[in-house]
Parts: sequence; C-alpha cells; structure tokens
Amino acid sequence: MKKLWGGRFSKTPEQWIEEFGASISFDQQLVLEDIEGSLAHVKMLGKTGILTMDESEQIQSGLLKLKAKAQAGELEYSVSEEDIHLNLEKMLIEEIGPVGGKLHTGRSRNDQVATDMHLYLKKQVQVIIEHIKEMQIALVEQAEKNVETILPGYTHLQRAQPVSFGHHLLAYFWMLERDKQRFEESLNRIDISPLGASALAGTTFPIDRHYSAELLGFSSVYENSMDAVSDRDFIVEFLSNSAMTITHLTRLAEEIILWSSKEFSFIELDDTYATGSSIMPQKKNPDMAELIRGKSGRVFGNLISMLTILKGLPMTYNKDMQEDKEGMFDTVHTIIGSLKIFAGMIETMTVKTEVMKDAVNQDFSNATELADYLATKGIPFREAHEIVGKLVLYCINKGCYLLDLSLEEFKEAFSEISDDVYNVLSPTEAVRRRNSYGGTGFDQVKIQLEQAKKLI
Ligand code: ARG
Repeated sequence: MKKLWGGRFSKTPEQWIEEFGASISFDQQLVLEDIEGSLAHVKMLGKTGILTMDESEQIQSGLLKLKAKAQAGELEYSVSEEDIHLNLEKMLIEEIGPVGGKLHTGRSRNDQVATDMHLYLKKQVQVIIEHIKEMQIALVEQAEKNVETILPGYTHLQRAQPVSFGHHLLAYFWMLERDKQRFEESLNRIDISPLGASALAGTTFPIDRHYSAELLGFSSVYENSMDAVSDRDFIVEFLSNSAMTITHLTRLAEEIILWSSKEFSFIELDDTYATGSSIMPQKKNPDMAELIRGKSGRVFGNLISMLTILKGLPMTYNKDMQEDKEGMFDTVHTIIGSLKIFAGMIETMTVKTEVMKDAVNQDFSNATELADYLATKGIPFREAHEIVGKLVLYCINKGCYLLDLSLEEFKEAFSEISDDVYNVLSPTEAVRRRNSYGGTGFDQVKIQLEQAKKLI
C-alpha cells in the first residue's frame, strides 16, 4: 500500500518488516493526545494565516469526528500506516479529502510524538498523585485507629523496641509524601511544549509555538528545537520516580506478607486481596502484596531500558526512541494499579491488636527502658547497658522475661532499682514515654497524624 512518505521509494517493505517497525499496536494509547496536539497545531496554522481559516476549520471538524470515533472505540488502525500519527493523518484525509494533507504543514512526527508524550505523561502523573493521596488516606485512617496499638518494632528483623502500630504505618505515609512531591516537581519538566520544533530545526513557516502551547495548556515551550525532539529526560525522571515509589510499596508489601503469616499473625487481609491454593484447602495467600513486590522488577527494568535507549544517541530524533513508549505505559499502569490495590488492602485489613500486644509481652524489647531507667539513677548509660545485658542473659538462662523478675533479683543486679521499675518496663509505658519529637510516644503520634492530615 502506498505510504504517506512514499514519494522517494520505489518499493514497499515486506509485511513482516513493516510489522517489526510499526508502533501502532502500542502507541494507539496516545490517540486522544495526538488529536489534541493536531487540533492545537491546526488552529495555530489558521491564526497565523499559514492555512486559511476555512482550511483550518475543515481540518478541525475532521479531527473532531475522528476524536468522537476514537472515544467510541470505532477507529480501525492499520500496521501499514506504521504509527498513530500516520494512521490518523490517513483517516483525516479519507474523512475530509486532500485538504487533510495540509495538517502536517510546519510539523514533523518528531515534535508530534514528543508533544503526545508530554500531554500523556502530564495527565497520568496527575492521576498517580491522586492515587498516592488515596493510599495516604488509607494509611492515616488505619493509623488513627491504631495509635495505641503496640507491636514490636524491629531492626535487623530482630525485636528492638515496642512501637505504636499507627507510628509504623505513618512511616509509609511520609515515604509516599516524598514520592508525591517528586511527581509534583517533575511536572515542571513535563509541562513544556515541543510542538513546532518540527523535525529538528524549526520551520520556515511563520508558526506561533507559544499559541499552540497555550492551547494545549503547557506552561512553557522548549527553547531549542533540537533538544525538544531528542530528549526523553522527562520520561526517565518519571520512571525513576516510579521506581522509588514502587520500592516503598515493596517494603510495605513485604511487611504485609510477613504480618499475615501464621508466624506473625499480626493482620488478616480481606478475602478480596488474597487467593486460595488449588491443592491446599487451608491456604490464604497474600497474592496482591506478593505481586506488587514482584512487579517492582518491571518498573526498575523500564527505567534501565529507557536510560539505555538514550545513552550515546546522537542528536536528534532516532528511531531507537520509538522504544520509549511501552515501558512508560507499562509503568503508568503498574504504579496506578499497585497504589489502588494497596489503598484497599490497608483500608480493609483486620489488625489483630491482641496478638501484637502479646508479642511485645514476650520479648526483651523493653530492655532499653531498663537501661534508660538505670541511667536516670546517675550511672553512665554504657554501664547501665552492661548491667541490663547481664540481666537479659540471666532471664534467658532462667527461661523468663524482665517483667517476671522479683524486686530482689532486680536489686541484686543494681541496688537502686525500686518497684517503679515494673511500670517503666510495661511495653505500653515504654511506647508512651518515647515522647521525643517524631518519636513513637502516643502524644507524638497524634501530633504527627495532625500534620499528615494537613497534607491530604
Ligand atoms: N512512531 C515514531 C515514534 O514513536 C514516531 C516518530 C517517527 N519519526 C520519524 N522520523 N520516523 O518514535
């Protein structure tokens, strides 16, 4: 079939080669952005007198018809038209006749595709920001219910000090807050119009790039036409921000998987977010959390692949850059899906407060309390640490915990211990008393919750 660019060719490629080179199977996701870009371009062509107003209007109405068809899912794409840009241009000419061929005046697919990607990502990043907020809301609501729920806090996956479960959940709130900021800040670099850069060098037509940018809602235009068509740093940045976000999600996914195991039993997931086994009738697997942990692989891969595509590419557009799309679409869908799943999973999980509480009563995570207590009696903390370490060993040998010791046993270790030690060692008190700014003390967590709520 004759190509829109076929003038200087004497034969057409074989079908399998055409298929290899085509991007229509995936860049059709940009159909609405492509039409939007074309509408702005052709309005600008009319306003500047490059086309007559009548021509511009004919093309606009043709594009609007294509838009309606696209929204109704009625467009039929063809591989021989290679990509979304050529498919739409062909359809436009079929729709309104040869005047449709004037749309591409002063424009190239190079600035066209870059414009589509900027429009697409600008929209999707805003959607992602909203989904981050939804997940933050779920965390805040669950944290609010669990300010005074205590559980072991871990370092090295060894019990360290008891903490508020609300505090633990809010740690993720703040990670997501920074992720959200990164996406918001990245909009400054996405919100720029490449349109009118043309193939690479600008155009001889008296176009008005600022006008088309304004019509598209872009805040500024690329200052350099070669930069405009050749860079994809805004996509790298998006993929990097996504990699950071999914890294945070995988950490919570891992905790959810651990917490819902029989060994921890700290939470139970709602049935919606779990699946059974085809052979073991008792199983309830935390599939969604596992899947998100696993999907981080493709998000990281997409970042590395985009960097690799750009590395060493000479100016300006190179066909290599067609490979920028699938990874970007995939990451957009993966991040949105993961955030949605997580919000629901956090919101609906059952927190087993008693199991968490029992756990802190059966460990030595109050040992620091005792060391702090001794230090308040005037001995250096290092000595207090040594005394408590010995007492822990004594308990291990005896098969008990610190709170099981008699006052005599305490006094033998350090004579100035009095019976207020039992209150100090209670895990709930241990948490309550960690009232330093940003600490896990209940009052601090409540302050933190107020700060968090202001941000969502
Ligand atoms: N399908 C192409 C892409 O996605 C559009 C730009 C093609 N430009 C060109 N000069 N062949 O990158």
